[in-house]
Amino acid sequence: MKIGFIGVGKMASAIINGLNSTSHDIIISGSSLARSREIAEQLEVTAAASHQELIDQADLVILGIKPQMFDTVLADLAFHQPIMSMAAGMTLERLANLTSPELPLIRIMPNLNAQILKSTTAICTNENVSAQLLTTAKEITDSFGSTFEIAEKDFDTFTALAGSSPAYIALFIEALAKAGVKYGLPKAESLNIATQTVLATAETILTGTDSPHDLIDKVCSPGGTTIAGLLDLEKTGLTASVISSIDTTINKAKNL
Ligand SMILES: NC(=O)c1ccc[n+]([C@@H]2O[C@H](COP(=O)([O-])OP(=O)(O)OC[C@H]3O[C@@H](n4cnc5c(N)ncnc54)[C@H](OP(=O)(O)O)[C@@H]3O)[C@@H](O)[C@H]2O)c1
Repeated sequence: MKIGFIGVGKMASAIINGLNSTSHDIIISGSSLARSREIAEQLEVTAAASHQELIDQADLVILGIKPQMFDTVLADLAFHQPIMSMAAGMTLERLANLTSPELPLIRIMPNLNAQILKSTTAICTNENVSAQLLTTAKEITDSFGSTFEIAEKDFDTFTALAGSSPAYIALFIEALAKAGVKYGLPKAESLNIATQTVLATAETILTGTDSPHDLIDKVCSPGGTTIAGLLDLEKTGLTASVISSIDTTINKAKNL
């Protein structure tokens, strides 16, 4: 299959790196011909002379532009093939209005972990997408991480839990590292300790049978240090604070 990318920034570049492990041909078109050539050379793919030339050749078009660019970029283009969009807040209905209601449309929500081919990606489609096309679309998203097929009504929640949360998790890691510095560890060492611990804890939950609660009970010995620290985290409102930040993220996504 020939896959065309219109707009190749951070996210589309990460996805293209994943697709290099598949047999699909990639063609790209960026903000200008000069940018397309520059990016194509970096990613070792083909540059199209224009968005329309790309559309004329591609079997599937992936839109890697920012949501606010959709109206202007799509206005003059005539699509004939399935389109995949990764834009935050861009519904399938809005995409159909900007392109054509007849086309198979796929909406995905990747996250920046696509850079290490470990994106947590949501996918949903309109009614024009066949089972075979959905399978191909999931092969594409699986090439840069794991795929969750969810209802479009849950996309804003997914965006908060997976799209934005790498920033929130990074903040938690940074806070742990700062605490280490407070007690005399060098920053780099403290950050490494915090990061390795977060990574291994996530792996334990993902691969083992313990729920987060089971794990908490195992680490907290009676009358010990961890239960004291854990209760302090709850006193200062970690759970409420996380949920409040997810509420804010979802509200923002709904009002984009
Ligand atoms: N970053 C994330 O974590 C993340 C997560 C989930 C979804 N997304 C979605 O992914 C999409 C891209 O985000 P990003 O973070 O990759 O942004 P980005 O790095 O800013 O990429 C956007 C790209 O669009 C290009 N562009 C601008 N105008 C264009 C035009 N007229 N025609 C073609 N290309 C044009 C820009 O080129 P120039 O650099 O030359 O201006 C840039 O390379 C967005 O819709 C975003 O909602 C991002």
